[in-house]
Amino acid sequence: MQGSPLLVVAPTPGSGEVGEGLARELGVEPVYGEFKEFPDGEEYVRVRVEGGGGPAVVVATMSRPQSRSLVVAMLTVDALRNQGIGEVYLAAPYFAYARQDRVFLPGEPVSVRVAMQALASTGVRGLLVVELHRAESLSWFPGDGVNVRPLPYIMRRSGFKCRRGETVIVSPDLGGRERAELVARRLGCEWGYLVKRRDRVTGEVRIEAADVEVEGRDVVIVDDIVSTGGTLALAASQLLERGARRVYAVAAHYLGLPGVDEKLRRAGLSGLAAGNTLPWNPQPGFLERVDITPLMAEALKGLLRG
Ligand code: R5P
Repeated sequence: MQGSPLLVVAPTPGSGEVGEGLARELGVEPVYGEFKEFPDGEEYVRVRVEGGGGPAVVVATMSRPQSRSLVVAMLTVDALRNQGIGEVYLAAPYFAYARQDRVFLPGEPVSVRVAMQALASTGVRGLLVVELHRAESLSWFPGDGVNVRPLPYIMRRSGFKCRRGETVIVSPDLGGRERAELVARRLGCEWGYLVKRRDRVTGEVRIEAADVEVEGRDVVIVDDIVSTGGTLALAASQLLERGARRVYAVAAHYLGLPGVDEKLRRAGLSGLAAGNTLPWNPQPGFLERVDITPLMAEALKGLLRG
C-alpha cells in the first residue's frame, strides 16, 4: 500500500458508522459523498476529493433500498475514478443480492453474479464483503476479494457464553453447517444443524430434520442474515420444542425490518447479537449490536497491501 488511503463514505444508509470506524482504525479523516434523488427518481452522487493518485476505499453498505444502494456505490466509485484515482476499493459491509446465488427455479437470474460484475465494470480493484451467503460467490468478482467472517467475534462480544457440554451451536439449515462448525471450533463447544426447506414459490420455510441433541442445553443459532426472521423464529421454536433450555442467536447482518424483533420474541428467542453492517437500533437485553469495524479494518489493510 502506498501511503494512507482516501476513505470515502458513500451516501447509503448505515455506511457512516462503519466508515467512521474504519477511518479511525486506519488513522484517516473520512470524506463524505452527497446524495440526492432527481425528481424522476434517478440517483445523483457527488464526492469531491483533493489530490488523487493514492488508493481510495469507498465504504458502501447495501442497505434498503438495496438496488439504490448498489447504484449509489457504483456512482461513487465512478466519481472517484473521474478525479484521477486509479486504485479504488469497495468495502461493502452488507452485500445485497447475495442469497440469489444460483438458479433455483428455471427463468431466474444469478443476482449476486450480476451485482459483482456490475461493480467490477466501474473499475473497482478490490472488494471487501462480510459473511457472504455463500463464500464462493466472491469468485464472480474478477479483482481481489476478501470475505470477513465475524461470527466468532460477535459471539465472543455478546453475552452468550460457550460452556462445554452445556452450549451447542446450531445452523438453521444445511447450507450454514460450515458456519456453525467454524464458530464452535473457535469457541470450543459442540455444534449441529437443522434441515430447512424453503418453498421457492411461496417463500414458506419448514424444518424437516435435526442433527443435534439440544435437550436441557443452551443453544446459539448462527446465521449469515436475519431478514424477515422467518428462519430464525422457526428454528428457535423447534429447538425449544425439542427441549432446549434457552435459545440465542448470532448473525452477521440484521436487516431491522419492522415487526421482526416481536416475531423473534414470540418464537421464544432469548436474544440476538448481530454486526453493525446495517442501520438498526439495539434493544437492551434482546438485540445487541456488535461493532465489527476492527475486524473489517484488519481485512482491509490486507486487501490494500495486495
Ligand atoms: C438462508 O439460506 C439464509 O442463510 C438465512 O437463513 C435466510 O436468508 C434468513 O432469511 P429470513 O430471516 O427471511 O428467514
